[in-house]
Amino acid sequence: MSARDPRLEVDAEMLLAARRSIRAFLPQAVPAAAIDAVLRAAARAPSGNNIQPWRVHVVVGEARDALVAEVCAAYDAGDSRHRAEYPYYPLEFFEPYLARRRRNGWGLYGLLGIGKGDRTRMHAQHRRNFEFFGAPVGLMFTIDRRLAQGSWLDYGMFLQSVMLAACSRGLATCAQAAWNNYHRIVEARLGFAPQEQLVCGMALGYADPAAVENTLVTERAPLDEFVVRHGLRPA
Ligand SMILES: Cc1cc2nc3c(=O)[nH]c(=O)nc-3n(C[C@H](O)[C@H](O)[C@H](O)COP(=O)(O)O)c2cc1C
Repeated sequence: MSARDPRLEVDAEMLLAARRSIRAFLPQAVPAAAIDAVLRAAARAPSGNNIQPWRVHVVVGEARDALVAEVCAAYDAGDSRHRAEYPYYPLEFFEPYLARRRRNGWGLYGLLGIGKGDRTRMHAQHRRNFEFFGAPVGLMFTIDRRLAQGSWLDYGMFLQSVMLAACSRGLATCAQAAWNNYHRIVEARLGFAPQEQLVCGMALGYADPAAVENTLVTERAPLDEFVVRHGLRPA
């Protein structure tokens, strides 16, 4: 199929529109061949000088369960020594990002009927991250810490490619920066090399069609909010 084939355009746009973050999975196992196929397809992502700065730990079965148990225990203990190695967000949010972040958070909690001061249920919902939201497959993405900012751009393309390749096979995903706070546990459990730095985790599996949280469809800002046209009229 050539890049000019109109079917390719439709399929790509359909996939981009169809991918959503899924936060409740069925326990159904994912065949190892399907996991390999997703990662093989995603590795077609571009990277500067084709250096392919990604490395993926696939975590299933007992290894998954042991990681989940240890991180859930640390999360429940509220041990504040667990900190992310790199800042994903600024220390203080500001507009327009603050409003978008709030809308996103309350969109999810609203669906789940979690009210503003309900700390117990918020804790329980955030904890679902550390169970991979019930997904049988956990992915842990690492980068060589000696690489530079450009490789993190490449990495984002790889992550989106993993999610789209999964989506095209009827699999669902949720990228998870939540794991970054517990990178020490992840590193020790999965035996990272000294230069390996956790980028983020990801849940992979089959979406639970009955879960209300999976009905969340997030908004996007309209074109005029983020496009600056120079010498071009709006279409
Ligand atoms: C790198 C990255 C990390 C994320 N980390 C989390 C996470 O820890 N927990 C979570 O529930 N969602 C996480 N998300 C999902 C975002 O909240 C989600 O992509 C956003 O709200 C847009 O919704 P959509 O993915 O359904 O389009 C993450 C997304 C990205 C790209």
